Amino acid sequence: MIQGNTPVPTADFYVGSVLAPEDLKFRGPFISDLWEALQSHHVLLKAPRRCGKTSVMEHLRHFPQHGYSVIYQNVQDLSHPADFLLAILDNFRDAHPDLFHSLVNGWKSVTAWLPKAEVLDFGEFKMKFREHEQDYREHWRQHGEALFAQLRSLNRPILIIVDELPDMLLNLRQEDPKLLRDFLSWFRDKRCDPAPKRDSVRWLLGGSINISSTLDAMSLLDRINDLEDMPLPELTPLQIESFVTDMFDERRVTYEKEVPVRLRELLGRPIPLFLQMLTLNLYRSWRLQPRKLKVADVEAEFALFITSTAAQDKLQHYYTRLAKYYKEPALSQAHAVLNHLCLADESGASRGTLTNLVDSLVPGGKLLPTHERKRLFLQLMRDLENDFYVTEQQPDRYGFASGIMKAWRRKHYA
Ligand SMILES: Nc1ncnc2c1ncn2[C@@H]1O[C@H](COP(=O)(O)OP(=O)(O)OP(=O)(O)O)[C@@H](O)[C@H]1O
Ligand SMILES: [Mg+2]
Repeated sequence: MIQGNTPVPTADFYVGSVLAPEDLKFRGPFISDLWEALQSHHVLLKAPRRCGKTSVMEHLRHFPQHGYSVIYQNVQDLSHPADFLLAILDNFRDAHPDLFHSLVNGWKSVTAWLPKAEVLDFGEFKMKFREHEQDYREHWRQHGEALFAQLRSLNRPILIIVDELPDMLLNLRQEDPKLLRDFLSWFRDKRCDPAPKRDSVRWLLGGSINISSTLDAMSLLDRINDLEDMPLPELTPLQIESFVTDMFDERRVTYEKEVPVRLRELLGRPIPLFLQMLTLNLYRSWRLQPRKLKVADVEAEFALFITSTAAQDKLQHYYTRLAKYYKEPALSQAHAVLNHLCLADESGASRGTLTNLVDSLVPGGKLLPTHERKRLFLQLMRDLENDFYVTEQQPDRYGFASGIMKAWRRKHYA
Protein backbone atom coordinates (compact mmCIF):
# COMPACT_ATOMS: atom_id res chain seq x y z
CA MET A 1 0.00 0.00 0.00
CA ILE A 2 1.37 3.43 -0.84
CA GLN A 3 -0.02 6.50 0.91
CA GLY A 4 0.92 9.87 -0.57
CA ASN A 5 4.65 9.85 -1.12
CA THR A 6 5.41 7.57 1.77
CA PRO A 7 5.58 3.90 0.96
CA VAL A 8 3.94 1.80 3.65
CA PRO A 9 5.08 -1.79 3.33
CA THR A 10 2.13 -4.12 3.75
CA ALA A 11 4.16 -7.23 4.44
CA ASP A 12 7.34 -7.73 6.42
CA PHE A 13 10.18 -9.96 5.35
CA TYR A 14 10.27 -13.24 7.24
CA VAL A 15 13.53 -15.10 7.29
CA GLY A 16 12.76 -18.19 9.31
CA SER A 17 9.94 -17.37 11.67
CA VAL A 18 6.34 -18.39 11.27
CA LEU A 19 4.35 -15.81 9.27
CA ALA A 20 1.76 -13.75 11.06
CA PRO A 21 -1.57 -14.90 9.58
CA GLU A 22 -2.26 -11.46 8.11
CA ASP A 23 1.05 -11.59 6.19
CA LEU A 24 0.45 -15.04 4.75
CA LYS A 25 0.09 -14.77 0.99
CA PHE A 26 -0.64 -17.35 -1.72
CA ARG A 27 -2.19 -19.89 0.62
CA GLY A 28 -5.83 -18.81 0.52
CA PRO A 29 -7.10 -21.52 -1.87
CA PHE A 30 -5.11 -24.23 -0.09
CA ILE A 31 -6.45 -23.17 3.30
CA SER A 32 -10.00 -23.36 1.91
CA ASP A 33 -9.21 -26.85 0.59
CA LEU A 34 -7.91 -27.84 4.01
CA TRP A 35 -11.04 -26.71 5.81
CA GLU A 36 -13.13 -28.50 3.25
CA ALA A 37 -11.16 -31.75 3.60
CA LEU A 38 -11.41 -31.48 7.37
CA GLN A 39 -15.20 -31.56 7.10
CA SER A 40 -15.03 -35.29 6.52
CA HIS A 41 -11.43 -36.45 7.05
CA HIS A 42 -8.42 -36.32 9.25
CA VAL A 43 -5.61 -34.77 7.24
CA LEU A 44 -1.89 -35.27 6.70
CA LEU A 45 -0.24 -31.99 5.67
CA LYS A 46 3.09 -32.65 4.01
CA ALA A 47 5.82 -30.39 2.72
CA PRO A 48 9.60 -30.18 2.88
CA ARG A 49 11.25 -28.00 5.46
CA ARG A 50 10.93 -24.23 5.26
CA CYS A 51 8.03 -24.21 2.85
CA GLY A 52 5.38 -22.76 5.14
CA LYS A 53 3.55 -25.60 6.89
CA THR A 54 3.53 -24.06 10.34
CA SER A 55 2.44 -20.72 8.90
CA VAL A 56 -0.59 -22.41 7.35
CA MET A 57 -1.34 -24.20 10.63
CA GLU A 58 -1.04 -20.91 12.47
CA HIS A 59 -3.56 -19.42 10.07
CA LEU A 60 -6.03 -22.22 10.83
CA ARG A 61 -5.53 -21.64 14.53
CA HIS A 62 -5.93 -17.90 14.27
CA PHE A 63 -8.91 -17.88 11.90
CA PRO A 64 -10.86 -21.03 12.67
CA GLN A 65 -13.82 -21.90 10.48
CA HIS A 66 -16.97 -23.97 11.03
CA GLY A 67 -16.96 -23.21 14.76
CA TYR A 68 -13.80 -25.21 15.49
CA SER A 69 -11.78 -24.67 18.64
CA VAL A 70 -8.20 -25.28 17.56
CA ILE A 71 -5.18 -26.58 19.43
CA TYR A 72 -1.70 -26.48 17.93
CA GLN A 73 1.03 -28.72 19.30
CA ASN A 74 4.57 -29.25 18.03
CA VAL A 75 5.71 -32.74 19.05
CA GLN A 76 9.17 -32.79 17.48
CA ASP A 77 11.02 -33.58 20.71
CA LEU A 78 8.55 -35.98 22.29
CA SER A 79 9.40 -39.64 22.49
CA HIS A 80 6.52 -41.28 24.34
CA PRO A 81 2.76 -41.54 23.63
CA ALA A 82 1.98 -40.42 27.19
CA ASP A 83 3.86 -37.17 26.65
CA PHE A 84 2.02 -36.68 23.36
CA LEU A 85 -1.38 -36.99 25.05
CA LEU A 86 -0.37 -34.86 27.95
CA ALA A 87 1.01 -32.13 25.71
CA ILE A 88 -2.36 -31.93 23.94
CA LEU A 89 -4.21 -31.78 27.21
CA ASP A 90 -1.89 -29.14 28.61
CA ASN A 91 -2.18 -27.12 25.46
CA PHE A 92 -5.94 -27.34 25.56
CA ARG A 93 -5.90 -25.90 29.04
CA ASP A 94 -3.69 -22.97 27.94
CA ALA A 95 -5.49 -22.28 24.65
CA HIS A 96 -9.07 -22.71 25.86
CA PRO A 97 -9.18 -22.20 29.62
CA ASP A 98 -12.91 -21.45 29.37
CA LEU A 99 -13.62 -24.89 27.91
CA PHE A 100 -11.18 -26.78 30.04
CA HIS A 101 -13.41 -27.47 32.99
CA SER A 102 -16.06 -28.95 30.71
CA LEU A 103 -13.35 -31.06 29.14
CA VAL A 104 -12.24 -32.63 32.39
CA ASN A 105 -15.73 -32.76 33.87
CA GLY A 106 -16.23 -36.29 35.22
CA TRP A 107 -12.64 -37.31 34.54
CA LYS A 108 -11.84 -38.54 38.02
CA SER A 109 -8.10 -38.98 37.71
CA VAL A 110 -7.90 -35.27 36.90
CA THR A 111 -10.68 -33.68 38.94
CA ALA A 112 -9.42 -35.41 42.08
CA TRP A 113 -6.54 -32.98 42.28
CA LEU A 114 -7.26 -30.22 39.78
CA PRO A 115 -7.51 -26.78 41.34
CA LYS A 116 -9.60 -24.14 39.66
CA ALA A 117 -8.29 -23.53 36.14
CA GLU A 118 -7.49 -19.89 36.92
CA VAL A 119 -5.03 -20.93 39.60
CA LEU A 120 -2.86 -22.83 37.13
CA ASP A 121 -0.04 -21.10 35.28
CA PHE A 122 0.74 -21.78 31.65
CA GLY A 123 2.17 -25.25 31.28
CA GLU A 124 1.51 -26.05 34.92
CA PHE A 125 -1.23 -28.56 34.25
CA LYS A 126 1.25 -30.95 32.67
CA MET A 127 3.53 -30.84 35.68
CA LYS A 128 0.70 -31.43 38.11
CA PHE A 129 -0.65 -34.30 36.06
CA ARG A 130 2.73 -36.01 36.17
CA GLU A 131 2.99 -35.42 39.91
CA HIS A 132 -0.37 -37.03 40.60
CA GLU A 133 -0.18 -39.81 38.03
CA GLN A 134 3.35 -41.00 38.49
CA ASP A 135 2.81 -44.09 36.36
CA TYR A 136 1.22 -42.02 33.61
CA ARG A 137 3.64 -43.34 30.99
CA GLU A 138 2.84 -46.95 31.74
CA HIS A 139 -0.89 -46.22 31.49
CA TRP A 140 -0.76 -44.09 28.37
CA ARG A 141 -3.54 -46.04 26.66
CA GLN A 142 -5.94 -45.57 29.54
CA HIS A 143 -5.24 -41.82 29.66
CA GLY A 144 -5.56 -41.67 25.88
CA GLU A 145 -8.95 -43.39 25.95
CA ALA A 146 -10.10 -40.92 28.58
CA LEU A 147 -8.82 -37.95 26.59
CA PHE A 148 -10.65 -39.06 23.45
CA ALA A 149 -13.85 -39.70 25.38
CA GLN A 150 -13.68 -36.32 27.12
CA LEU A 151 -12.94 -34.46 23.89
CA ARG A 152 -15.94 -36.09 22.24
CA SER A 153 -18.18 -35.43 25.19
CA LEU A 154 -17.66 -31.68 24.67
CA ASN A 155 -19.88 -32.15 21.65
CA ARG A 156 -18.40 -29.26 19.74
CA PRO A 157 -15.91 -29.22 16.86
CA ILE A 158 -12.33 -29.52 18.07
CA LEU A 159 -9.38 -29.44 15.67
CA ILE A 160 -6.07 -30.74 16.99
CA ILE A 161 -3.09 -29.75 14.89
CA VAL A 162 0.02 -31.82 15.49
CA ASP A 163 3.18 -30.41 13.90
CA GLU A 164 6.29 -32.50 13.16
CA LEU A 165 4.63 -35.80 13.99
CA PRO A 166 7.08 -37.83 11.84
CA ASP A 167 9.93 -36.66 14.07
CA MET A 168 8.10 -37.95 17.10
CA LEU A 169 7.50 -41.27 15.36
CA LEU A 170 11.19 -41.60 14.62
CA ASN A 171 11.98 -40.80 18.25
CA LEU A 172 9.55 -43.53 19.29
CA ARG A 173 11.15 -46.00 16.93
CA GLN A 174 14.52 -45.23 18.41
CA GLU A 175 13.28 -45.70 21.99
CA ASP A 176 11.29 -48.83 21.29
CA PRO A 177 10.01 -50.04 17.89
CA LYS A 178 7.18 -51.94 19.60
CA LEU A 179 5.96 -48.75 21.23
CA LEU A 180 5.84 -47.12 17.80
CA ARG A 181 3.74 -49.98 16.43
CA ASP A 182 1.42 -49.96 19.43
CA PHE A 183 0.97 -46.23 19.33
CA LEU A 184 0.30 -46.06 15.59
CA SER A 185 -2.26 -48.85 15.78
CA TRP A 186 -3.97 -47.41 18.82
CA PHE A 187 -4.04 -43.88 17.42
CA ARG A 188 -5.49 -45.04 14.11
CA ASP A 189 -8.20 -47.07 15.83
CA LYS A 190 -9.15 -44.10 17.98
CA ARG A 191 -9.24 -41.71 15.01
CA CYS A 192 -11.41 -44.04 12.95
CA ASP A 193 -14.03 -45.04 15.47
CA PRO A 194 -16.37 -43.27 15.00
CA ALA A 195 -15.72 -42.32 11.36
CA PRO A 196 -14.57 -38.70 11.09
CA LYS A 197 -17.87 -37.57 9.56
CA ARG A 198 -19.65 -38.60 12.75
CA ASP A 199 -16.90 -37.39 15.05
CA SER A 200 -16.55 -33.90 16.55
CA VAL A 201 -12.77 -34.21 16.84
CA ARG A 202 -10.46 -33.71 13.86
CA TRP A 203 -6.73 -34.26 13.52
CA LEU A 204 -4.43 -32.36 11.22
CA LEU A 205 -1.07 -34.09 11.31
CA GLY A 206 1.91 -32.42 9.72
CA GLY A 207 5.57 -32.91 9.16
CA SER A 208 8.50 -32.01 7.04
CA ILE A 209 10.09 -35.37 6.54
CA ASN A 210 8.84 -38.14 4.44
CA ILE A 211 7.67 -40.74 6.91
CA SER A 212 6.15 -43.02 4.31
CA SER A 213 9.25 -44.99 3.39
CA THR A 214 10.22 -45.44 7.06
CA LEU A 215 6.76 -46.79 7.88
CA ASP A 216 6.75 -48.81 4.67
CA ALA A 217 10.00 -50.48 5.64
CA MET A 218 8.37 -51.46 8.95
CA SER A 219 5.17 -52.62 7.20
CA LEU A 220 3.27 -49.88 9.02
CA LEU A 221 2.12 -47.75 6.14
CA ASP A 222 -1.47 -48.92 6.61
CA ARG A 223 -1.46 -47.28 10.07
CA ILE A 224 -1.76 -43.85 8.46
CA ASN A 225 -3.80 -44.78 5.39
CA ASP A 226 -6.97 -43.24 6.82
CA LEU A 227 -5.48 -39.76 6.50
CA GLU A 228 -6.27 -37.51 3.59
CA ASP A 229 -2.93 -36.58 2.02
CA MET A 230 -2.69 -32.84 1.44
CA PRO A 231 0.73 -31.77 0.14
CA LEU A 232 1.35 -28.04 0.52
CA PRO A 233 1.52 -26.71 -3.06
CA GLU A 234 4.76 -25.29 -4.36
CA LEU A 235 4.72 -21.58 -5.09
CA THR A 236 4.13 -21.07 -8.82
CA PRO A 237 6.50 -19.04 -11.05
CA LEU A 238 3.93 -16.27 -11.11
CA GLN A 239 3.62 -16.18 -7.32
CA ILE A 240 7.39 -16.02 -6.91
CA GLU A 241 7.69 -13.13 -9.33
CA SER A 242 4.76 -11.32 -7.76
CA PHE A 243 6.33 -11.76 -4.30
CA VAL A 244 9.51 -10.03 -5.49
CA THR A 245 7.61 -7.35 -7.38
CA ASP A 246 5.32 -6.55 -4.44
CA MET A 247 8.13 -6.43 -1.90
CA PHE A 248 10.12 -4.08 -4.17
CA ASP A 249 7.21 -1.90 -5.26
CA GLU A 250 6.01 -1.37 -1.71
CA ARG A 251 9.51 -0.18 -0.84
CA ARG A 252 9.93 1.90 -4.01
CA VAL A 253 12.87 -0.18 -5.18
CA THR A 254 13.70 0.40 -8.86
CA TYR A 255 14.64 -2.62 -10.98
CA GLU A 256 14.81 -3.89 -14.50
CA LYS A 257 11.85 -6.05 -15.40
CA GLU A 258 14.03 -9.17 -15.84
CA VAL A 259 15.09 -9.06 -12.17
CA PRO A 260 12.19 -11.09 -10.63
CA VAL A 261 12.47 -13.66 -13.42
CA ARG A 262 16.21 -14.13 -12.91
CA LEU A 263 15.74 -14.49 -9.19
CA ARG A 264 13.15 -17.17 -9.79
CA GLU A 265 15.44 -19.01 -12.22
CA LEU A 266 18.30 -19.02 -9.75
CA LEU A 267 16.09 -20.34 -6.96
CA GLY A 268 15.12 -23.41 -8.95
CA ARG A 269 12.34 -25.30 -7.23
CA PRO A 270 11.33 -22.62 -4.78
CA ILE A 271 11.80 -22.92 -1.05
CA PRO A 272 9.90 -19.87 0.26
CA LEU A 273 12.47 -19.13 2.95
CA PHE A 274 15.21 -18.70 0.35
CA LEU A 275 12.93 -16.56 -1.76
CA GLN A 276 12.49 -14.25 1.24
CA MET A 277 16.19 -14.18 2.09
CA LEU A 278 17.36 -13.40 -1.45
CA THR A 279 14.72 -10.71 -1.97
CA LEU A 280 15.64 -9.13 1.36
CA ASN A 281 19.36 -9.17 0.51
CA LEU A 282 18.68 -7.48 -2.82
CA TYR A 283 16.52 -4.88 -1.12
CA ARG A 284 19.25 -4.16 1.43
CA SER A 285 21.86 -3.82 -1.26
CA TRP A 286 19.59 -1.36 -3.09
CA ARG A 287 18.96 0.63 0.11
CA LEU A 288 22.67 0.92 0.70
CA GLN A 289 23.23 2.09 -2.85
CA PRO A 290 19.98 3.17 -4.53
CA ARG A 291 20.07 2.33 -8.27
CA LYS A 292 18.09 0.45 -10.86
CA LEU A 293 18.71 -3.19 -9.96
CA LYS A 294 19.92 -5.36 -12.84
CA VAL A 295 20.17 -9.07 -13.55
CA ALA A 296 23.89 -8.85 -12.71
CA ASP A 297 22.94 -7.60 -9.21
CA VAL A 298 20.75 -10.67 -8.68
CA GLU A 299 23.59 -12.95 -9.74
CA ALA A 300 26.06 -11.18 -7.47
CA GLU A 301 23.67 -11.38 -4.49
CA PHE A 302 23.05 -15.06 -5.20
CA ALA A 303 26.80 -15.79 -5.17
CA LEU A 304 27.23 -13.80 -1.94
CA PHE A 305 24.31 -15.62 -0.36
CA ILE A 306 25.75 -19.06 -1.03
CA THR A 307 28.89 -18.21 0.95
CA SER A 308 27.11 -16.30 3.73
CA THR A 309 26.83 -17.57 7.28
CA ALA A 310 23.07 -16.99 7.12
CA ALA A 311 22.86 -19.52 4.28
CA GLN A 312 25.22 -21.86 6.10
CA ASP A 313 22.89 -21.86 9.12
CA LYS A 314 19.84 -22.63 7.05
CA LEU A 315 21.37 -25.06 4.57
CA GLN A 316 23.59 -27.17 6.79
CA HIS A 317 20.42 -28.80 8.03
CA TYR A 318 19.70 -30.29 4.59
CA TYR A 319 23.12 -31.91 4.67
CA THR A 320 23.11 -33.30 8.20
CA ARG A 321 19.53 -34.54 8.14
CA LEU A 322 20.50 -37.20 5.61
CA ALA A 323 22.51 -38.96 8.29
CA LYS A 324 19.49 -38.88 10.58
CA TYR A 325 16.94 -40.32 8.16
CA TYR A 326 18.91 -42.49 5.69
CA LYS A 327 20.48 -45.76 6.79
CA GLU A 328 23.54 -47.27 5.11
CA PRO A 329 24.07 -48.04 2.28
CA ALA A 330 21.33 -45.56 1.24
CA LEU A 331 23.20 -42.78 3.08
CA SER A 332 26.45 -43.16 1.08
CA GLN A 333 24.45 -43.62 -2.09
CA ALA A 334 22.43 -40.48 -1.43
CA HIS A 335 25.60 -38.46 -0.86
CA ALA A 336 27.17 -39.87 -4.03
CA VAL A 337 24.09 -39.00 -6.10
CA LEU A 338 23.90 -35.47 -4.70
CA ASN A 339 27.62 -34.87 -5.19
CA HIS A 340 27.30 -35.98 -8.78
CA LEU A 341 24.20 -33.87 -9.43
CA CYS A 342 25.58 -30.69 -7.90
CA LEU A 343 28.45 -30.79 -10.40
CA ALA A 344 26.23 -31.55 -13.39
CA ASP A 345 25.10 -28.79 -15.75
CA GLU A 346 21.47 -27.76 -16.14
CA SER A 347 20.60 -30.94 -18.03
CA GLY A 348 21.28 -33.01 -14.89
CA ALA A 349 22.31 -36.66 -15.10
CA SER A 350 20.83 -39.72 -16.74
CA ARG A 351 19.24 -42.57 -14.87
CA GLY A 352 21.89 -44.91 -16.31
CA THR A 353 24.78 -42.87 -14.88
CA LEU A 354 23.16 -42.64 -11.46
CA THR A 355 22.25 -46.34 -11.44
CA ASN A 356 25.91 -47.23 -12.00
CA LEU A 357 26.94 -44.87 -9.22
CA VAL A 358 24.44 -46.36 -6.79
CA ASP A 359 25.26 -49.92 -7.81
CA SER A 360 28.92 -49.36 -7.10
CA LEU A 361 27.99 -48.62 -3.47
CA VAL A 362 25.75 -51.64 -2.82
CA PRO A 363 27.65 -54.11 -0.67
CA GLY A 364 27.99 -57.14 -2.93
CA GLY A 365 26.02 -55.02 -5.42
CA LYS A 366 26.71 -56.77 -8.67
CA LEU A 367 25.68 -60.04 -7.05
CA LEU A 368 22.11 -58.83 -6.50
CA PRO A 369 19.58 -59.67 -9.21
CA THR A 370 19.01 -56.81 -11.68
CA HIS A 371 15.39 -56.30 -10.68
CA GLU A 372 16.38 -55.95 -7.01
CA ARG A 373 19.08 -53.40 -7.81
CA LYS A 374 16.56 -51.48 -9.90
CA ARG A 375 14.05 -51.52 -7.07
CA LEU A 376 16.59 -50.19 -4.57
CA PHE A 377 17.68 -47.47 -6.98
CA LEU A 378 14.13 -46.30 -7.61
CA GLN A 379 13.37 -46.31 -3.90
CA LEU A 380 16.42 -44.16 -3.18
CA MET A 381 15.50 -41.70 -5.93
CA ARG A 382 11.90 -41.59 -4.74
CA ASP A 383 13.02 -40.79 -1.20
CA LEU A 384 15.40 -38.10 -2.44
CA GLU A 385 12.58 -36.67 -4.53
CA ASN A 386 10.06 -36.74 -1.69
CA ASP A 387 12.61 -35.17 0.61
CA PHE A 388 13.01 -32.42 -1.95
CA TYR A 389 16.65 -32.93 -2.89
CA VAL A 390 16.25 -34.04 -6.49
CA THR A 391 13.70 -33.84 -9.23
CA GLU A 392 13.13 -35.91 -12.35
CA GLN A 393 13.39 -32.98 -14.70
CA GLN A 394 12.75 -35.05 -17.85
CA PRO A 395 11.92 -38.71 -18.18
CA ASP A 396 15.00 -40.59 -16.99
CA ARG A 397 17.02 -37.45 -16.22
CA TYR A 398 17.47 -36.15 -12.69
CA GLY A 399 18.66 -32.82 -11.38
CA PHE A 400 18.98 -30.90 -8.11
CA ALA A 401 15.62 -29.56 -6.97
CA SER A 402 16.73 -26.27 -5.46
CA GLY A 403 19.22 -24.03 -7.24
CA ILE A 404 20.41 -22.70 -3.89
CA MET A 405 21.03 -26.14 -2.44
CA LYS A 406 22.87 -27.17 -5.58
CA ALA A 407 25.20 -24.15 -5.57
CA TRP A 408 25.78 -24.47 -1.84
CA ARG A 409 26.60 -28.15 -1.99
CA ARG A 410 28.98 -27.62 -4.91
CA LYS A 411 30.74 -24.92 -2.93
CA HIS A 412 31.05 -26.81 0.34
CA TYR A 413 30.97 -30.55 -0.22
CA ALA A 414 31.65 -31.63 -3.80
N1 LIG B 1 3.35 -18.01 1.90
C1 LIG B 1 4.62 -17.64 2.04
N2 LIG B 1 5.13 -16.60 1.34
C2 LIG B 1 6.41 -16.23 1.47
N3 LIG B 1 7.29 -16.84 2.30
C3 LIG B 1 6.85 -17.86 3.04
C4 LIG B 1 5.50 -18.34 2.95
N4 LIG B 1 5.35 -19.37 3.81
C5 LIG B 1 6.56 -19.56 4.39
N5 LIG B 1 7.47 -18.65 3.94
C6 LIG B 1 8.90 -18.58 4.32
O1 LIG B 1 9.25 -19.83 4.90
C7 LIG B 1 9.75 -19.63 6.23
C8 LIG B 1 9.33 -20.82 7.08
O2 LIG B 1 7.92 -20.84 7.28
P1 LIG B 1 7.26 -21.93 8.21
O3 LIG B 1 7.96 -21.97 9.52
O4 LIG B 1 5.81 -21.73 8.19
O5 LIG B 1 7.63 -23.23 7.35
P2 LIG B 1 7.69 -24.75 7.82
O6 LIG B 1 7.44 -25.55 6.58
O7 LIG B 1 6.82 -24.98 8.99
O8 LIG B 1 9.23 -24.85 8.25
P3 LIG B 1 9.92 -26.01 9.14
O9 LIG B 1 10.09 -27.15 8.21
O10 LIG B 1 11.23 -25.41 9.54
O11 LIG B 1 9.02 -26.34 10.29
C9 LIG B 1 9.19 -18.31 6.67
O12 LIG B 1 10.02 -17.68 7.65
C10 LIG B 1 9.22 -17.53 5.37
O13 LIG B 1 10.53 -17.07 5.10
MG1 LIG C 1 7.24 -25.82 10.87
